[in-house]
Amino acid sequence: MKISIVGLGYVGAVSSACLASAGHRVWGVDINPEKVRIINEGASPIVESGLAEKIAQARSAGRLQATVDIAEALRESELCFVAVATPSRPNGEIDPAHLFRACKQIGTALATLRRKQIVVIRSSVLPSIFDECRRIFASNAPGLVELCANPEFLREGTAILDFEEPPFTILGTDTAAAEDMLRSLYADQTAPIFVLKPREALMVKYASNAFHAMKVAFANEIAAVCQPAGVDADAVMNIFCSDTKLNISRRYLKPGFAFGGSCLPKDVRAILYAGKTMDLQLPLMAGILSSNEEVIERAFQKVRATGKRRIGMIGLSFKSNTDDLRESPFVELAERLLGKGYELSIYDPNVIAARLTGANKEYIDAVIPHLFRLMVPSVEELANCELLLVGHHFDGVDAVLETNRASVIDLTARRAATSAGVVEQELVLEI
Ligand SMILES: NC(=O)c1ccc[n+]([C@@H]2O[C@H](COP(=O)([O-])OP(=O)(O)OC[C@H]3O[C@@H](n4cnc5c(N)ncnc54)[C@H](O)[C@@H]3O)[C@@H](O)[C@H]2O)c1
Repeated sequence: MKISIVGLGYVGAVSSACLASAGHRVWGVDINPEKVRIINEGASPIVESGLAEKIAQARSAGRLQATVDIAEALRESELCFVAVATPSRPNGEIDPAHLFRACKQIGTALATLRRKQIVVIRSSVLPSIFDECRRIFASNAPGLVELCANPEFLREGTAILDFEEPPFTILGTDTAAAEDMLRSLYADQTAPIFVLKPREALMVKYASNAFHAMKVAFANEIAAVCQPAGVDADAVMNIFCSDTKLNISRRYLKPGFAFGGSCLPKDVRAILYAGKTMDLQLPLMAGILSSNEEVIERAFQKVRATGKRRIGMIGLSFKSNTDDLRESPFVELAERLLGKGYELSIYDPNVIAARLTGANKEYIDAVIPHLFRLMVPSVEELANCELLLVGHHFDGVDAVLETNRASVIDLTARRAATSAGVVEQELVLEI
């Protein structure tokens, strides 16, 4: 394949060398003539293990050429990767200046050459910036560019290995032609390939890096609590990581409603208190609880925004398949709605059964007797509600929702739409 790569920094130089050594013909483009000269001399413009050797081999095989002239590269290539920097501005937003300039230069060159091209954003950008890149191409190279996203997951220091053996390859594209081309480019890789819309593809990168950053901060806060107490944090985290069932797993990583129950909030609070006694600031741990409260607040605001007053809640216990109401976020939401004068009916067969058998009677009677009085024995009895809040998908609930004329807000992020109601999905990312 003939490939151009715009930007010869960490990502661009590694991609250029690896793709050339995989047998492709690569033109690397950079505005920095020094980087271009170094690559053309068969050396590496960055410190990265094994990269200089790969560049030297690619140069002597005649498969890699660097240039400052974008048109020279695009004249030959059929696929153009953009790997320019997307640094932060002081306020945290991405500075897209390099990226927009590169897109303008690519578009102008393609328009002059009258050449079509699949252009792939390899840089890390949020969807709104990708959309702007689309607008740039639509205005300066109309009909010539098919814009895709293919975020990079390499880590400096192990970049070549990461490029050749990534955890997965994410292709963000709207068309089969671009998908086919990118799939064939990565055909030799053993990693799974996931094809998404560009917006989702780009967000996988941000979710991954935010998660990595959070993991480091988390381990450090656990260590901060352990060390003054003479607890070996390394031993704790080593064993912690050996649990691939609950800890290092898909568990607890599905967007949905707030957490609650008898353990998670209590134990996070206990760590925070321990930190306080040691004069430790634990902003990540503290943030967990306020982040959780925000989930409830967003749900409340969504209800408010509908203007509906007669609300049916489906699910009251803190999670499905239990009658446990302790620190249930649904109880909290119900209290908030009642406090603001909403008319509330609640359906939760587990809670009703628990009250009847006496299992959870004490708690219900002592803590939420006012909510229990609002409970209905069947979901059909929510028929008069204007808005249904779905916390749990009990058996039979989905069928009722299909025919119910009420609007629905699904707090579990499971249903995207209703037949007759407002289309709502909790935790849809709005960027
Ligand atoms: N560095 C990493 O480990 C890494 C890993 C994954 C993703 N990313 C993302 O990849 C992107 C690139 O990161 P990087 O670390 O390689 O950046 P970098 O700063 O090392 O390299 C960017 C290069 O682009 C060149 N450039 C700027 N404008 C140009 C233009 N108009 N035409 C041609 N070249 C131009 C610069 O001269 C520079 O050499 C960023 O969005 C980054 O977030 C980086």
